[in-house]
Amino acid sequence: MNQIKLIVGNWKMNPGTLGEAKRIIRKIRRVAMKMNNIRVVVCPPTPFIVACVARKKPDPIHFGAQKVTYVENTASTGEVDAVMLRDIGVKYVIIGHSEQRALGDTDEMVSKRVLACLKAGLTPIVCVGEKERDDNGDFLEPLKEQIKKSFAGIPKKYSHNVIVAYEPIWKIGEKEAMIPDQVCEMAIFIRKVFSDIFGNNVGLKLKVLYGGSVNFRNATGIIQIGKVDGFLIGRESVNTPGFIELMKAVDSIS
Ligand code: PGA
Repeated sequence: MNQIKLIVGNWKMNPGTLGEAKRIIRKIRRVAMKMNNIRVVVCPPTPFIVACVARKKPDPIHFGAQKVTYVENTASTGEVDAVMLRDIGVKYVIIGHSEQRALGDTDEMVSKRVLACLKAGLTPIVCVGEKERDDNGDFLEPLKEQIKKSFAGIPKKYSHNVIVAYEPIWKIGEKEAMIPDQVCEMAIFIRKVFSDIFGNNVGLKLKVLYGGSVNFRNATGIIQIGKVDGFLIGRESVNTPGFIELMKAVDSIS
C-alpha cells in the first residue's frame, strides 16, 4: 500500500482561545516533522488560521478552512472567499459538512463552494453521507444523488483535485466508528458514483476519507480493511495526545 494517508483534523468551533490553538499546533508539528507516510491537515476556526501557519517553511502541517463563500460580489458582509484563504496559506477547505448542511447548506450551495475553491487552486474536502441506514439499501440512492448534485457543474479538468469525505451522519460524535468492512463497501460505492460522473480514470483515483468517531484505536483497521485514503477527524483532533497516537498509528502502516 504505502501511499501517503491524509489525516484531516476538523477542529469545528474549538478550542476556545488562540493560545490553546497555538499550543495544540506546536505539539502536533513536533510529531508531524518525524512522519513519512502521512500528511496532516489541520482545519482551525477561521480567525485562528493565520496565527497557526508556520512562518518557517516547510511546515509539516498543512492548513484547511471550515468554510468558504461562493459569492463573487465583494460587497458581501461576513463572507470570506477562497482567494483570501489561499493568501493566508490555506490549501484545503471542508465543504458540505453535515453540521453546515443542517444550518442550511444545500447541494447546490455545496457545488458552488467547491467550484470557488477549485478556481482559486484550493482542494475541497467534500463531505457526504447518509443520515441513517436501512437494511435493504434504500439509503444508497439518495446518497448517490447527494454526491452527483454536490459536484454538479464542476468541470472535469478540476475533478482530479477533489477529495470526498464519507461521513455517515449516524456515526458522527458516537462511541464507535463504522466497521471497516462497511467503510470499504462505501468507499467502492463512492468511487463508482464518481466514475459515473467524471469517468473511470478519475473515479478509481479519487481520494476518499472516512469520518465519524475515528480514534487511535480504530484507525489502523479502517485504513487497512476500509481501503480509504485517510480520515476526517472531529473530537480526537483537539484531544492532542489521542491525535498524536492516531498520527503515529497511521504513519506506521506499511
Ligand atoms: P467525530 O466528528 O470524529 O467527533 O465523530 C467527525 C466530524 O464531524 O467530521
